[in-house]
Amino acid sequence: MNILKDSFGRTFPYIRMSITDVCNFKCGYCLPNGYQIDRSDSRKFLHLDEIKRLAKCFSELGVRKIRITGGEPTVRKDFYEIIRILKIESGIKNVVITTNGYHLDRKAKFLANTGLNGINISIDSLNRETFKNITGHDRLPEILQGIKNLQDFGFENIKINGVLLNEINSTKKDFDEWSNFIQNNKIDFRYIELMQTGDNLEYFKKYHIPSKVFKNYLDENKWIYQTFGKDAGPSLNYINPEYKGKFGIIAPYSKDFCKSCNRLRITSRGDLRLCLFGNTGISVRHLLQNDNQLSELKDLILKQMQFKKESHYLELGKTGSTKNLSKTGG
Ligand code: 5AD
Ligand code: SF4
Repeated sequence: MNILKDSFGRTFPYIRMSITDVCNFKCGYCLPNGYQIDRSDSRKFLHLDEIKRLAKCFSELGVRKIRITGGEPTVRKDFYEIIRILKIESGIKNVVITTNGYHLDRKAKFLANTGLNGINISIDSLNRETFKNITGHDRLPEILQGIKNLQDFGFENIKINGVLLNEINSTKKDFDEWSNFIQNNKIDFRYIELMQTGDNLEYFKKYHIPSKVFKNYLDENKWIYQTFGKDAGPSLNYINPEYKGKFGIIAPYSKDFCKSCNRLRITSRGDLRLCLFGNTGISVRHLLQNDNQLSELKDLILKQMQFKKESHYLELGKTGSTKNLSKTGG
């Protein structure tokens, strides 16, 4: 049973938990100058025990899925230990991660062995030069090799996310490349529409393009829109009987996007965030210090549900306290 419910009738079976702000990439829309230490916030990132307690609490509140994000979550020295503990001790059935794929060729074996239920990899372009220009790293080959390695180790649930950027990866050629990639490869690829954050207004103005260009491509190429059940979340999914993989679109500026919101977020320093954007949410960290605080923690989180707003109001240019997504994991 899911107990986490807001005043608009939405339930929250899904948590996105950031375990670090640190990222080793320099994506133009997120950390163009690379990760910089935030001197206004001296709090340490959540400790393994705190992560475990929080996950256990969410599991008792009916949460079934936790996504570990960053920053880049795999930069943490205790990353594999965190996944292992979540899988064995938290009661959460579905533990997944989002990664930028750094050293994925070498990590594939270890990732496949953790018992993880799914991996989302961020790849904005299948063109090596373009990938390098966006992320600041010439690492597309090692990531693609990493995906092959994961598959060789029998890892099934792989998804790829790309941020749609006008003229950088939004042409028919780009779409065709992805289409070829997923034709005989059981991998889902999803374009995320670029979102404005506190830091990236110039970039946003230059590169934001509505996902309609991709939707038109899908319609023209006989992709079939597939609706999902109640817990599906805000991604629009498309299938094609001739393809092993699926396509998807995440369009945060579209009308009704927030109606299917099914997730809450935890920042790397233990703030509960009710929305990716906006200023709603409080620190729950003081209640993660001891196992006997569990019921108090549950009460606090439940009480916060009434403050979840209906929408992100992003279309009004309101980015709230979100400077970039490296703190809240996209
Ligand atoms: N707009 C859209 N997606 C973003 N991401 C990071 N910043 C933004 C933004 N401003 C994406 C990453 C990754 C996911 C975690 O969030 O590229 O796919
Ligand atoms: Fe939910 Fe906020 Fe995301 Fe909207 S922007 S779908 S309210 S988390």
